Amino acid sequence: MPADSKTKKTILTLRRHKRSGEKTVLVTAYDYPQSLIADKAGVDAILVGDSAGMTTHGYKTTIPVTMDEMINHCEAVARGSKNAFLIGDMPYMSYQPSDQIAIENAGRFIISGMDCVKVEGAMIDRVKAIADAGIMVMSHLGLTPHTRAKLGGYRVQGKTSKSAQVVLDQALRLQDAGCSFLLLEAMPTEPAGLISEKLSIPVYGIGAGNLVDGQLVILHDLIGLFWEFKSKFVKRYCEAGKLIESALIDYKDEVKNQIFPDKNNFYEIKEEELEKLLGDSSWKYEKDRVENRAIPKHSVTPRTMKGKD
Ligand code: KIV
Repeated sequence: MPADSKTKKTILTLRRHKRSGEKTVLVTAYDYPQSLIADKAGVDAILVGDSAGMTTHGYKTTIPVTMDEMINHCEAVARGSKNAFLIGDMPYMSYQPSDQIAIENAGRFIISGMDCVKVEGAMIDRVKAIADAGIMVMSHLGLTPHTRAKLGGYRVQGKTSKSAQVVLDQALRLQDAGCSFLLLEAMPTEPAGLISEKLSIPVYGIGAGNLVDGQLVILHDLIGLFWEFKSKFVKRYCEAGKLIESALIDYKDEVKNQIFPDKNNFYEIKEEELEKLLGDSSWKYEKDRVENRAIPKHSVTPRTMKGKD
């Protein structure tokens, strides 16, 4: 593993943001190019979310995502990022069964190159166990997809003073248990802001308004690569899906119309070597086609390799 660069964002950077009021920028990424781009754009932190299940694998929920799939994504993201703080999202049933299983799986995330793991729910014992093992934890409260059935579906949380109080109590207990960051998903602005004020650790939001310490958005929502649904809190900054589709249509048309590839894309063969080749009767070659450039002169493909190794 390469040594961290001087520009690498750490827990100290993120705590400094909280103190100074600078908003922290978090985005998800699931592979090497996405991570390279996010890092180049200067985001502060990358979450390798188990949303990969939906954005990348086409599952309907995050539930089927496995540890092995997550580790694969995390390794690719870690190879692409030099600067961002990296958070690995513990998938369903990778931390629920016992403290021991949670610690072992959290360790796998750290070995894969992550700086921190994310655990859903008020899992006080698990968070304490992982934190006591020396691994940074981000807790995730509010709408927690792993327990969505218990919440009655994907619903905004903390909409009543009573339910907001429950989230605040859970958040304070998680902070006491040693969690280093908190993520609030799908909560009204004011209760989320109040929780971030009451906690000394950084509190981020995804659909939790603008009073928290930073924002997380799922990359595919932000760039227009996810179409199953669009949450209210999502803002699309571009339509990458449309751009890719239009490039593929251009490519298809150019191949069909023999515009691509052209001489800029060909590998060359020296004239005398080509002559030798054409003079060799074992290459049943249609000389005319070469000369007429119906197929490119310097990208000849032998019709038969009879007698050749
Ligand atoms: O998996 C993920 O990307 C997440 C966010 C939705 C918070 O957990």
